Amino acid sequence: MVKDETVMLSVAMSISGALRLKFSLFGERLGGRSAIRELMEDLGAALAGGREVCMLGGGNPAHIPAVEERLRRRWREVAEDPVAFARMIGDYDEPQGERGFIGALADLLRRTQGWRLGPRNILLTHGSQSAFFMLFNLFAGSRADGGRRRVFLPLTPEYVGYGDVGVEEDFLIARRPQVTLLNEPYFKYHLDLHDLPAAEEVGAICLSRPSNPTGNVVTDAELAQLHALARRWDVPLIVDGAYGPPFPDIVFTDAEPHWDERMILCLSLSKLGLPAARTGIIIAAEPIIDMLTGMNAVLHLATGSVGAALARDWVRSGEILTLSREHIQPYYRRRLDHALRTMQRALRGCAYRVHQPEGAIFLWLWFPNLPITSDELYRRLKARGVLVLPGHYFFPGLPEDPGDPWPHRHECIRLTYAQDEAVVERGITILAEEIKRACSSA
Ligand SMILES: Cc1ncc(COP(=O)(O)O)c(C=O)c1O
Repeated sequence: MVKDETVMLSVAMSISGALRLKFSLFGERLGGRSAIRELMEDLGAALAGGREVCMLGGGNPAHIPAVEERLRRRWREVAEDPVAFARMIGDYDEPQGERGFIGALADLLRRTQGWRLGPRNILLTHGSQSAFFMLFNLFAGSRADGGRRRVFLPLTPEYVGYGDVGVEEDFLIARRPQVTLLNEPYFKYHLDLHDLPAAEEVGAICLSRPSNPTGNVVTDAELAQLHALARRWDVPLIVDGAYGPPFPDIVFTDAEPHWDERMILCLSLSKLGLPAARTGIIIAAEPIIDMLTGMNAVLHLATGSVGAALARDWVRSGEILTLSREHIQPYYRRRLDHALRTMQRALRGCAYRVHQPEGAIFLWLWFPNLPITSDELYRRLKARGVLVLPGHYFFPGLPEDPGDPWPHRHECIRLTYAQDEAVVERGITILAEEIKRACSSA
């Protein structure tokens, strides 16, 4: 070892020797291992690995040419306007978010949805992931009166990103769904509200609609049931509308967008094609927006301006709705039809079911009595260059119960059909080979 290297090594050792880090429980919870971190790192590593990967994992939206062309045009307009450009990159916005965007959105929602709201009902966040951190910790956890509340997830499987956002331990309560078998190969999850938690345990109810991971869209009637429950318990009903409606509206069934003061609707620009701009939108009663504005200031000073600057004119003109309806939704519909055809061809002869795809960008596949776990299936697929997500991650708040095991949670996988058709086709073909191999060697 040369002299310089020896000196460097001893400096590094003395630093690490001197450093005795002790973390808080909060630090350990958020900074340690979590399901969402594992998934995001795994996906990032696979993409950076240099090897060609069939990326059917992850939740990246598709690069839709009609959307990207408009974004490029808008980007050039902003870049060429000195005032708009300086405003977008050179000034902090307010902690509630960019006023022009918020005002335009309030107008649009009043005009097109008939919702009785104004700018004081809307807040922007750094993506909706950060919205869930703020909302969940606003309504759940320890209270000044000594009580403790949790967020109730009435319909698992549910979005993995809810799993680790609680500052305190044991933050979520979830329930299994009713499973309805439909015409082969479809099935559907429904709400099962027979075994509810005690009212005084719950600080908020939350669900994704459309659902990540299953593509389920809770019916208007089921949503009304949850709304009534929220009213009875006097808690908010948080609806995660990352996939719309009203935008990006990746919904293939009848589902009315709904909002009133009992509800907190979380929207996002991500699945519209702007995940890198990190722009989430919360629509809620004024006192809630006021609390979240305070939280935004403490956590972020201000929200990012880029998403609002790029999308503001679409909101003003209403183009955000037509773009969703005429370009984004049909694009995913075509991708979905292709993925379903490919799957039915490739998996012929295998025991499988797929959740009725009603929205979002995923297929949720169930292999009843699969001789290997979905985690093992994920590993075998990864070894062959195909990334999917094993289903067991998608049961936040529903610990395994040794007295009442539920094999279903180890029999499902999620795959996205947002990628190129050739990638989806190759991935599903290899998936079918692995399923057949697992079943024949059982
Ligand atoms: C259901 C759901 N909610 C929220 C998010 C977070 O979205 P973002 O933070 O990009 O707005 C995602 C991302 O995949 C999602 O699928």
